[in-house]
Amino acid sequence: MEHYTMNLTLKVWRQANKNVVGRFETYSVTDISSEMSFLEMFDVLNERLIQEGKEPIAFDHDCREGICGMCSMYIDGRPHGPWHGTTTCQLHMRAFKDGDTITVEPWRANAFPVLKDLIVDRTAFDRIIQSGGYVSVNTGVSVDGNAIPIEKEKADKAFAAAACIGCGACVAACKNSSALLFVSAKVSHLSLLPQGGPERKTRALAMVAQMDKEGFGSCTNTGACEAVCPKEISITNIARLNSEYLKAGLSADLSPTS
Ligand code: SF4
Ligand code: FES
Repeated sequence: MEHYTMNLTLKVWRQANKNVVGRFETYSVTDISSEMSFLEMFDVLNERLIQEGKEPIAFDHDCREGICGMCSMYIDGRPHGPWHGTTTCQLHMRAFKDGDTITVEPWRANAFPVLKDLIVDRTAFDRIIQSGGYVSVNTGVSVDGNAIPIEKEKADKAFAAAACIGCGACVAACKNSSALLFVSAKVSHLSLLPQGGPERKTRALAMVAQMDKEGFGSCTNTGACEAVCPKEISITNIARLNSEYLKAGLSADLSPTS
C-alpha cells in the first residue's frame, strides 16, 4: 500500500489520578505517516506538548511488539483499536484516514482504577496470578523437551492459552467487567500440561476467589472478550475453567481435611 500522511483530530481522556474527575481534551496532529504505529503517533503529539510546556499524555507501553500487554487503550470504542487480533502498539496509522477524529480512553473497570490519563492499575491481574497461576516444581536444569510426552492436541491448546499477555482488553470490553477470559487462559495453560498437575485441585478455586475479591464481575457469555482479545484467546477456555472449578470444588468437599 502507498505510504501517505494525514492530519487527525484526537479526543484523549485526561485524568490526573483516580480521585479526580477526568475529561476529554482535543488535539490536532499533523503530517502523521501511515507507516507509524499508534504509539509513535502519540510520541509525536507528546513531543509537541512538551515543547509547548504542557503535560504529556500518560500511556502505558513497554515492548511495542505485542508481547508485554501494557498498551491498554480504548480506541474509537474498541480495546486496542479497529484491527482484529492486534495490540495498540502494533496498530498502524494506515488503519485511519486523513481528517479522521479518533477518541482514546483508558480501560474502564472498577478493578482497574485510572492512575493517570490512559494508564490504569492492572495489578489485580498480578494478584490473581500470585494466588494460583504458577507451578511449584523444582525445575532444576531444563530437561529435554521430548522427555515429557504431551499429546500434540493438548500442547497446542496449552500454547494457545499461554499466548494471553494479560492486557485486560477482555475486562474492558465486557459489560460486567469480567476477568474470566484472562483467568481461564491462565488456568487452562497450566491444567493442560503435566507440570500443572500438583496444584490442579487448588488453582481454579484460588484464582476465581481472588478474581471475585478484586471486584471483577460475573461472566454472562456475551463473547465480547473473545472478539477483542489481541491474542485471540478462545472462550472455550472458560468452559475448561468451569470444569476445573467444579472438579476442584467437589474434590475439596470430599477431602477429609475440608
Ligand atoms: S485473554 Fe486476551 S484480552 Fe484478556 S488479558 Fe489475555 S490477551 Fe488480553
Ligand atoms: S507495548 Fe507491549 S504489547 Fe503493546
